[in-house]
Amino acid sequence: MAKVKTAYFCQNCGHEAPKWLGRCPSCSEWNTFVEEVITKGKKEVTVFSKSSKRTSKPQAIHEIEEIPQQRLQMVDRELNRVLGDGLVPGSLTLFGGEPGIGKSTLMLQMAMQETKHKILYVSGEESDQQIKMRASRIGELNENCFLLTETQLESIFKHAENLQPTMLVIDSIQTIHSENIESSPGSISQIRECTAQLLRFAKQTETPVFLIGHITKEGSLAGPKVLEHMVDTVLQFEGDRNHVYRLLRSIKNRFGSTNELGIYEMLGNGLRQVDNPSEILISNNQDDLSGSAIAATLEGLRPMLIEVQALVSTAAYGTPQRSATGFDLRRLNMLLAVMEKRCGFKLGAKDVFLNIAGGIKVSDPGIDLAVVASILSSNADIAIKKNISLSAEVGLSGEIRPVNRVDQRISEAEKLGFDKIIISKDNKGIKQSDFKIEIVGCSRIEEVLRELF
Ligand code: TYD
Ligand code: MG
Repeated sequence: MAKVKTAYFCQNCGHEAPKWLGRCPSCSEWNTFVEEVITKGKKEVTVFSKSSKRTSKPQAIHEIEEIPQQRLQMVDRELNRVLGDGLVPGSLTLFGGEPGIGKSTLMLQMAMQETKHKILYVSGEESDQQIKMRASRIGELNENCFLLTETQLESIFKHAENLQPTMLVIDSIQTIHSENIESSPGSISQIRECTAQLLRFAKQTETPVFLIGHITKEGSLAGPKVLEHMVDTVLQFEGDRNHVYRLLRSIKNRFGSTNELGIYEMLGNGLRQVDNPSEILISNNQDDLSGSAIAATLEGLRPMLIEVQALVSTAAYGTPQRSATGFDLRRLNMLLAVMEKRCGFKLGAKDVFLNIAGGIKVSDPGIDLAVVASILSSNADIAIKKNISLSAEVGLSGEIRPVNRVDQRISEAEKLGFDKIIISKDNKGIKQSDFKIEIVGCSRIEEVLRELF
């Protein structure tokens, strides 16, 4: 028997060291090194039936024959769009998200919808019975979908070779293990080895593989960054578990843009595709309430209107509280400082609470002006006029800055029946005659206030 060889691996970034270290020299995380067995005898390299057609000698780029890739068009339009207009044969897609966010649900739903393709759904987390129960809840069962509860990778490959599926789903990478490696499932070396073998399987048999992966509390895809480097596409499923909306983002995509966004609503019978996000993100409250402003933002390439709500009240204790849900707290503090210093609003002794409706996280700076407007509206307790939307960034000196793709944002606001949109004066190339909605360009917060109330 070969001697058992061990090494220490950082569970955060996968850095390998011969001895235990307190701090990882690569990612600077503390206390992340764990001993793992790295070899157990000789490694077997699995060879798959459809062998690769690649040549390994150098070729002049113009001589390489361009074979148009036949992408599989998915029934799920949101997924299709986020993948970059279809699924590429032989691609390995990592699908990450927090526990309980709906990864298994989305993948199972996809497996039920793709009735034209043979799908092998491998689960290492749930029993056949559990999956069947969930599938029946989601909708009609797909006769072409096969379930396998297995955690051993070599055995999964054996079944896949017999079945020859068009698509393979693995739920999840943290539960499967390869017999080539002795360390426990979920450890860095197992994850790395299993992913490498799955990648080889995907490329050699041209079967697209979906790999579900958990996310750590800090929000990175569970465990190793190496995983993200190995796969072709990284999709992330996010949202607030207490809310019904879920966003599907692509973080990395070798076959398309990472600007696309998919939106779903979690219902009792699975995930529903949301075609018009703006309508659901704006509350239909007819009363004029102070502290609410509508921002025309862009998530990826998708314009949508969302409601920003603020509550400003006199601080009951010495230190005022600042809290933001769905918005960066540091950015909120910066905007408050700008309002205080540049515009003279006394907010230093006030509690400020900010909330983005619908449980969505927004990172687009174009929402700044709506944040400022909602805070000022709540502070003065005057409601912002109905049918006004805002879209601009606020700079450190209180100037209103332009945002990208402003025409898309204006069109979206117009489509949803808004009468006026406030943007930066510096947004060039926007002609009022192209739009029905009134476009107001401002350069200072004071000017915005005159328009709002
Ligand atoms: P799940 O897909 O198991 O999450 P993950 O695989 O990401 O850990 O789904 C988790 C939640 O989704 C679960 O708490 C219940 C909810 N859910 C619904 O609301 N409706 C449904 O139709 C299904 C199947 C699940
Ligand atoms: Mg799951």
